Amino acid sequence: MKKILITGGAGFIGSHVVRLFVNTYADYEVYNLDKLTYAGNLENLKDVENKPNYKFVLGDITDAEFINNLFEEHKFSAVVHLAAESHVDRSISNPLDFVFANVIGTVNLLNAAKKAWGCNKDKPVPTDRIFYHVSTDEVYGSLGETGFFLETTPYDPQSPYSASKASSDHFVRAYNNTYNLPVVISNCSNNYGANQFPEKLIPLFIHNIKTNKALPVYGDGKYTRDWLWVADHARAIDVILHKGELGETYNIGGFNEWQNIELIKLLCKIMDKKLGRAEGESEKLITYVKDRPGHDKRYAIDASKLNQKLGWKPSVTFEEGLEKTVDWYLENEEWLRNVTSGEYQKYYTAQYATR
Ligand SMILES: NC(=O)c1ccc[n+]([C@@H]2O[C@H](COP(=O)([O-])OP(=O)(O)OC[C@H]3O[C@@H](n4cnc5c(N)ncnc54)[C@H](O)[C@@H]3O)[C@@H](O)[C@H]2O)c1
Repeated sequence: MKKILITGGAGFIGSHVVRLFVNTYADYEVYNLDKLTYAGNLENLKDVENKPNYKFVLGDITDAEFINNLFEEHKFSAVVHLAAESHVDRSISNPLDFVFANVIGTVNLLNAAKKAWGCNKDKPVPTDRIFYHVSTDEVYGSLGETGFFLETTPYDPQSPYSASKASSDHFVRAYNNTYNLPVVISNCSNNYGANQFPEKLIPLFIHNIKTNKALPVYGDGKYTRDWLWVADHARAIDVILHKGELGETYNIGGFNEWQNIELIKLLCKIMDKKLGRAEGESEKLITYVKDRPGHDKRYAIDASKLNQKLGWKPSVTFEEGLEKTVDWYLENEEWLRNVTSGEYQKYYTAQYATR
């Protein structure tokens, strides 16, 4: 029986990873450690919460003593680390929150794993343990009109969010190099899909289109992002955790670049169809707004290493994934209401804090 710790499992991507692992590996004990910040929502995991191989732990990765005790008690053999502050706009107003959660939180987990697994440079890297750090393509900075991010692209983070993620990646590699900690890192492109907090572009715009609110587009709308369906990211994490080589980095992406404005137009078209509106109706909600500082122009990820070495590729086209995503948000209005009101958070925090 493997004990696996997933951090940030109540968040957007983490909840998909937890669900996949709980449903796929009946012989694993899956521990989901989450602080339940505004972005963490146990409603996301209702369908697996009573499974015998799933446990939730309320806790903060910035609390070193708590994390050390948790590792001592549970002797995890694998860590999949997703917990983070993740929203670029919030990092611009509160950079220190990102340093605490993303840098110090990660170093606390590395220290606990190093201690629990007895890692040091005099001993070989243990091959029956793994610390998997989930990161972002934003650490590579911004691209011009052409080219792709490779695993070897030098880091050039441009926002406090990406700077904090870049820093955490460096610590993970440093622990591998200095203490022989068995690590693997992946850097993924923008995710979309069910259960994403509605401050991010796609869920926010689905909600705004439905309620006839403006669709604020930064700058000229030509910012380009590479989009991946969240369930495909979760599958990639599963493949890398089980088949990836220790010490390696894998880029994850779907070779799926979209300019923001083109994506928003496609979303409007899908929404017109779903809501029975005349084609072009929802596009009228588009409004251009002042750009945010340090906005990266283009991200595009080259995921060939993952495709070729581990055989992973996305399971859906962008159009299919986006349509599934729209359907999910339209069918889960209560989830959206609960998330935006923050009621769920008070409920779960109170429930677990008393245990
Ligand atoms: N969303 C994307 O497009 C994307 C793309 C690539 C990589 N990533 C990375 O994937 C990971 C998950 O991203 P997401 O979009 O699901 O984020 P999210 O904001 O939806 O979820 C983050 C989760 O971490 C938890 N958390 C935050 N601070 C914590 C703390 N101090 N202690 C314990 N738990 C804490 C939150 O409660 C939440 O459940 C992050 O590390 C992010 O950098 C995200």
